[in-house]
Amino acid sequence: MRVPFIDIRAHYQDVVPEIDQVTHEVLSSGGYVLGKHNKALEEELATLHGVKHGIAVNSGTDALRIAMDACGIKPGDEVITTAFTFVASVEVIVQLGAIPVFVDIEPHTFNIDPEKIREAISSKTRAILPIHLFGQLANVNAISAIAREHGLMVIEDAAQAVASHHNGAYAGKHGRAAGLSFYVTKNLGAAGDGGMILTDDDEVAELARSIRIHGMGRERYYYDYIGYTSRLDEIQAAVLRTKLTKLADWNARRGEIAARYLDELRSLDLRLPSIVAGNNHTWHQFTVRSPRREAMQGFLKEREIDSMIYYPVPIHYHAPYRRFGNGEGSLPETEAAAKEVLSLPVHPHMRDEQVEWVIESVAQFASPVGRPA
Ligand SMILES: Cc1ncc(COP(=O)(O)O)c(C=O)c1O
Repeated sequence: MRVPFIDIRAHYQDVVPEIDQVTHEVLSSGGYVLGKHNKALEEELATLHGVKHGIAVNSGTDALRIAMDACGIKPGDEVITTAFTFVASVEVIVQLGAIPVFVDIEPHTFNIDPEKIREAISSKTRAILPIHLFGQLANVNAISAIAREHGLMVIEDAAQAVASHHNGAYAGKHGRAAGLSFYVTKNLGAAGDGGMILTDDDEVAELARSIRIHGMGRERYYYDYIGYTSRLDEIQAAVLRTKLTKLADWNARRGEIAARYLDELRSLDLRLPSIVAGNNHTWHQFTVRSPRREAMQGFLKEREIDSMIYYPVPIHYHAPYRRFGNGEGSLPETEAAAKEVLSLPVHPHMRDEQVEWVIESVAQFASPVGRPA
């Protein structure tokens, strides 16, 4: 049975009349940038995450870069983060002239290990950038405590964590600012690129709003800052607002599938993801670990089940970022995870029989007795 890793068209199928109507309305209106849907989306997502401001931009990458810029990250500042992430988390630090300092991850969550942050702090450290990987928040309480103790900012990479929270405190509440991504494949995905900065800080919000339109001040064509062009298209804002009405249902379905995987794959010869107490996991990815993951991926492929490796190569191994790391062996948990991780399909439009086929196939491969040759 064919099980695609994600089914983007099915997301649209869930909301065809609404999207068709709203996109037609936007196209007919002629208001294509920074219009009423942008404003409404900003308010809706800020409300969902319990923060004062949402600033919609062109991508998750821009959300992070503009958030860091508006928070005052300057050339030469050190920003503590991890190397087990999508490249954008680190790329934006370097683009601002700042220096990424890599700290290892916790093997059970793939998120930054707070125990290892202290030893990475220097006189140049300005911020910690936790990445809430795969839909689960990093250990935000421990990170905030360390940041307070050392006078550092926390800026959250919440690209994969829209609607994720820890004991009711959502992504965006644990730092000075956060960046969300609406890339097509995200839990809340646009029909293209999009992102949003979340912040409770009025000054950061005002500066971020200015930076997204070239650093323009309150008066048109007067510039206070060197910025970028990073608006969210009005049509994308309209699409995202429509999909936002389904997000809770979609995330609930992801949760149902993940719960079945956790239950029905638990006594196998592979390591399952764990949910930290107090976290609601929104299951952007369901990522297992196996020392035989290439063989598992091949085995699943033969059964027409797609799977993905997020991420096969840690950031400190890539040529442009090598100079910021300490080479092979410096981040043992990160390096081990990169060799073992495999993400299984967990998208909300999976049918029960597809979920069962994944379970049956993984169980067949990873059975503790009678492994396939
Ligand atoms: C952890 C992380 N950070 C940042 C980004 C960048 O987001 P975008 O692709 O919207 O620019 C992504 C997107 O994949 C991501 O997964």
